[in-house]
Amino acid sequence: MSTDHDAILARLAELRAGDLPTRGGRTMAYVYDSGLDGLEELAVAAQAAFAGVNGLDMTAFPSVVELENDLVRRATALLGGGAGTFTSGGTESCLLAVLTARQYARGTRGVTRPELILPDTAHAAFHKAAELFGLDVVTVPVDPATFKVWPADVAAAITERTALVVVSAPSYAHGVVDPVAEVAALAAERGVLCHVDACIGGWYLGHLRRAADAPDIPDFDLTVPGVTSLSVDLHKYGYAAKGASLLLFADAELRRHGWFAHASWPGYPVVNSTLQGTKSAGPLAAAWAVTERVGTDGYTALSTRVHRTTRDLADGVGRIDGLRLLARPEASLIAVASDDPEVDVFVVADEMRESGWYLQPQPAFGASPANLHLTVTAAVAEEETVRLLLGELEKAVGRARAAGPVRVDPAIVEAAASLDPEALTAEEVEIALALAGVGEGGALPRRMAPVLAVLQALPPKLSERLLPEVIGRLYTAAGQ
Ligand SMILES: Cc1ncc(COP(=O)(O)O)c(C=O)c1O
Repeated sequence: MSTDHDAILARLAELRAGDLPTRGGRTMAYVYDSGLDGLEELAVAAQAAFAGVNGLDMTAFPSVVELENDLVRRATALLGGGAGTFTSGGTESCLLAVLTARQYARGTRGVTRPELILPDTAHAAFHKAAELFGLDVVTVPVDPATFKVWPADVAAAITERTALVVVSAPSYAHGVVDPVAEVAALAAERGVLCHVDACIGGWYLGHLRRAADAPDIPDFDLTVPGVTSLSVDLHKYGYAAKGASLLLFADAELRRHGWFAHASWPGYPVVNSTLQGTKSAGPLAAAWAVTERVGTDGYTALSTRVHRTTRDLADGVGRIDGLRLLARPEASLIAVASDDPEVDVFVVADEMRESGWYLQPQPAFGASPANLHLTVTAAVAEEETVRLLLGELEKAVGRARAAGPVRVDPAIVEAAASLDPEALTAEEVEIALALAGVGEGGALPRRMAPVLAVLQALPPKLSERLLPEVIGRLYTAAGQ
């Protein structure tokens, strides 16, 4: 251990070297690179200037009100709505949308056992919200051909207890836009709130539709009758530093239901618009700086480049023998499945990683087969990068075909099906993890295909029991 300034920073740099790159477009999930010179440096400087400012108390730090109002104004001009809140990310925006709807249903309709209607494709954050805030989830299947929810199914699921209906624009897994206008109209008819999860696509689609040669984009925002809230992440296609999202509402009256105020204690009076108490204003300042610098026209140009690149990549992927698109991309996300039983997409992902590209494996679920997810950002939008990516992908498919698919021992699947996830003993957990190929000491294998193959063969409830065990082994006392 060293207390020397340079040595400390050197150690951090050493740790970062083991991570996936965050710039350059080769990491096709988790990170968003605008490719614009100096933008990250601007964000870093803004973040540093506001790192110590506490967003907890807007009377002590009025700058946070100014910055947040500016961002919300920019967002409502793009996506409609009359009020908003800056949050730490997509998950927090989704959590707050559900919390607000629960409080609203309780306060205005006396609903005490609220339900949350979610298409099968809704982001996991909404299931987390239901669990945290005590709502019963009512899932609605999606069309197995388009991966979009059927409006009539949503309507049929609405009851007196429904607090909120959620649709995606677009969904993370398949990159398609649910029929927002139809669902929102049906929800409104029954007096139920409707949230559009535009966390990943809202900023991109909102700007893309301003372009002169914009493709057809279905209506998805708060200008659509019946849509009452919308989440949109600035740390995705706003290319802001991580920790930046907006939750927009039709009006401030709805928004207030999700706020927490407390004056019944001897300390300072509390008003929290988000889940956090003390919060750094760094991400807020960085998001403000980045959106100022890029501007509406800049985002429109970036979105146009991403749109063309997504189309070129999707066309290119469709031409690779053994691969197929799971859905025609309606935003900037591509889901690639295999149409050759000898090509295992998880092996393709491992092969791509060996050649410096991260494509995100998505295990099979319902009608959605195993596939690879690609988030296309502006940094990918170079002809050379697209050519390189498609070339590497074709080679990776060839190598995966030669290696053959990972086969899961049917005996494991059978044994797993008989386990009760709720009642697993510590010993059974150990056995299950060993079977899944997660070794002693918790280190994850370099090649993930065998682990993913087992994981997707298990009942989801069993995976949900085992996954925290796998990750828990990374954060052990020995490691700490
Ligand atoms: C549609 C959608 N909703 C919610 C989220 C959650 O956002 P975050 O990871 O910023 O918490 C994501 C993240 O990818 C998303 O794509």
